[in-house]
Amino acid sequence: MSRKILVTNALPYANGDIHLGHLVGYIQCDIWVRYQRMRGNTVHYVCADDTHGTPVMLRAEKEGVTPEALIARVHGEHLRDFTDFGVAFDHYHSTHTPENRAYAEDIYGKLKTAALIDTRSIEQFYDPVKEMFLPDRFIKGECPKCGAADQYGDNCEVCGAAYAPTELKNPYSAVSGAKPVLRSSEHYFFRLSDDRAVAFLREWTRGSNASGVKRLQAEAANKMNEWLGEDGENKLSDWDISRDAPYFGFEIPGAPGKYFYVWLDAPIGYLASFNKLAQIRGDIVIEDFTDAARAEASATEMVHFIGKDILYFHALFWPAMLKFAGYRTPSQLCVNGFLTVDGAKMSKSRGTFITARSYVEQKLNPEWLRYYFAGKSNGTMEDVDLNLDDMIAKVNSDLVGKFVNIASRCAGFVTKRFEGRLAATDAAATAAFAAAWASGSIATCYEERDYSRALREIMHLADLANQYVNEHKPWELAKQEGQETRLHEVCSTALTMFRDLTRYLKPVLPALAEKVEAFLAIADLDWHGDWIALPAGHTITPYAHLMTRIERKQIDALLDANRESLAPAASAAPKADADTSSQQRHAEKQQHAAAATEAAAAHISIDDFTKVDLRIAKIVDASHVDGADKLIRLQLDIGEDRPRQVFAGIKSAYDPATLVGRLTVMVANLAPRKMKFGMSEGMVLAASDPDGKTGGLYILAPDNGATPGMRVK
Ligand code: 2FM
Ligand code: ZN
Repeated sequence: MSRKILVTNALPYANGDIHLGHLVGYIQCDIWVRYQRMRGNTVHYVCADDTHGTPVMLRAEKEGVTPEALIARVHGEHLRDFTDFGVAFDHYHSTHTPENRAYAEDIYGKLKTAALIDTRSIEQFYDPVKEMFLPDRFIKGECPKCGAADQYGDNCEVCGAAYAPTELKNPYSAVSGAKPVLRSSEHYFFRLSDDRAVAFLREWTRGSNASGVKRLQAEAANKMNEWLGEDGENKLSDWDISRDAPYFGFEIPGAPGKYFYVWLDAPIGYLASFNKLAQIRGDIVIEDFTDAARAEASATEMVHFIGKDILYFHALFWPAMLKFAGYRTPSQLCVNGFLTVDGAKMSKSRGTFITARSYVEQKLNPEWLRYYFAGKSNGTMEDVDLNLDDMIAKVNSDLVGKFVNIASRCAGFVTKRFEGRLAATDAAATAAFAAAWASGSIATCYEERDYSRALREIMHLADLANQYVNEHKPWELAKQEGQETRLHEVCSTALTMFRDLTRYLKPVLPALAEKVEAFLAIADLDWHGDWIALPAGHTITPYAHLMTRIERKQIDALLDANRESLAPAASAAPKADADTSSQQRHAEKQQHAAAATEAAAAHISIDDFTKVDLRIAKIVDASHVDGADKLIRLQLDIGEDRPRQVFAGIKSAYDPATLVGRLTVMVANLAPRKMKFGMSEGMVLAASDPDGKTGGLYILAPDNGATPGMRVK
């Protein structure tokens, strides 16, 4: 039965150029869409520009244009880049549209009705000259850890420390240069910590979709388990979804001067783009893809392709927003890794921060990149390395040396000697080739996005086709008397094999496939149509060159075109890519400040250490917790009026009865955490093997003489 799938790609920000890092995810997605269509499935493939937020507002101001004019221009640039790389959306929309506003307001209104919106006052840095609140990346100052100057408000690029903007020394606004002041304002929150949301997300992130495919790849599911915590724990914080004026975005209904945070309406842009497509097309039932009940009844799928940096938004906030607004939830997230070039982060000074535009302007063939990226994509979240010499070698040997070579060695004879007409094929060779295909798993590899393996199998088939040509040597047959019929049959057979190789490569190389279809004078190749050999008498067109080789000098010219001097950028405003990571850091920070600090900072200062209030604690009571596999409820005396309740994940190692009366060490100033079973008011320390190999867990015990409440320093 054919499937109906809404496929989306992450929406690029409207204040930056498309670069090769973006293209990894778009190309992976486009290949999947093309494959699904070749299988006869109905796919609606949409995307849009992500237009809202402070960076767009400030960039427009700097350029002396309105935000609307800026995003209109960028929309055209982005769409042209995608089109040039064969990424063929059915519709490319914008989040600054009536459709998006309507969905954003509807979803927000329904979440409010479901009692999932809260307001509370928060304190933030404010630029008194520019009269605006400053996002973290628009505050700069000296790093509180290493003292480096001109560091952003969320982390230090010199020592890697992560911190709050209020910790910066001598902070200044990157917009006006003014000293920011702390000011409080009312913000709107989506109550992600609500028990309903937590319970739903636990189920959703672990589940499978209607086709039995896991909604999340294994690595993404693991990440989610980490974010959600153990069963019974609630590690989620509410999500700040509002920003104060001035802000380029949608004003929140009933809240003058408050705007939806860009990340609230960005994923909603998927639905807005799809809605616009439905308006244009007129034959799509929108509700089948947006309404939970209708979507289930009509068995439609919604699949999002995203980069790993925005998993958090798509696997927590987005499904929860949809669920509690009564919309359909995503069927699957397909998460890709980052791009490295020659094993390192993309770098402007090395010229490896390559824009899509420069690649096209340097006259490199976009399908070289599609082929190379496909060969490096295996359906996991692993990073993709663009090794430039390897790309040259792969494209030249696989595409030019193996694939195109089959046609270029046979087509000329058919045109010159047989007026372009094919003969009946060599039945045994054609059958052997078909059997080799049937024993492989190219289709499954495409379905599972393991394009790397699909291409390996296709190149194996190309080797078989080349072997056939090598064995029969049409160039020698052509010189021999009385071998006309054999020559005709060999060339016709090889071209039938070539036709099928083109079919298998078509999701990756659509432009090349189109040229081959024209050359062979055949209809649009698909996966379910005519698999029999090209018929005798079928006339092909004269062969024209299908693909050229890559030369190293072309790559060098591309690097030169993208190389920027090492001089620091004069502009104070963050660049588009800096903003991307700022958005990501913002979300991560809201939930994982502690973990981020730990990962980023190799050393901590003594001041950092003394922030942790460690106390000797006496376990005055310990008991099992109904419904929790791993937890023990402890009552800990640290010399306060009443004992502290702490849920400790030590059940695998201790019987509660043996703990009562013992002294241990606890973190006394950890923010209390609401769990399903009650509040947890601290944490006991326990040792374990870092690899988890022994599985042992050992709570700490002080030396004789320590008493409850003593500080551990
Ligand atoms: O990280 C980014 O580039 C965002 N503009 C992605 C948004 S994806 C979706 F949520 F809209
Ligand atoms: Zn630093």
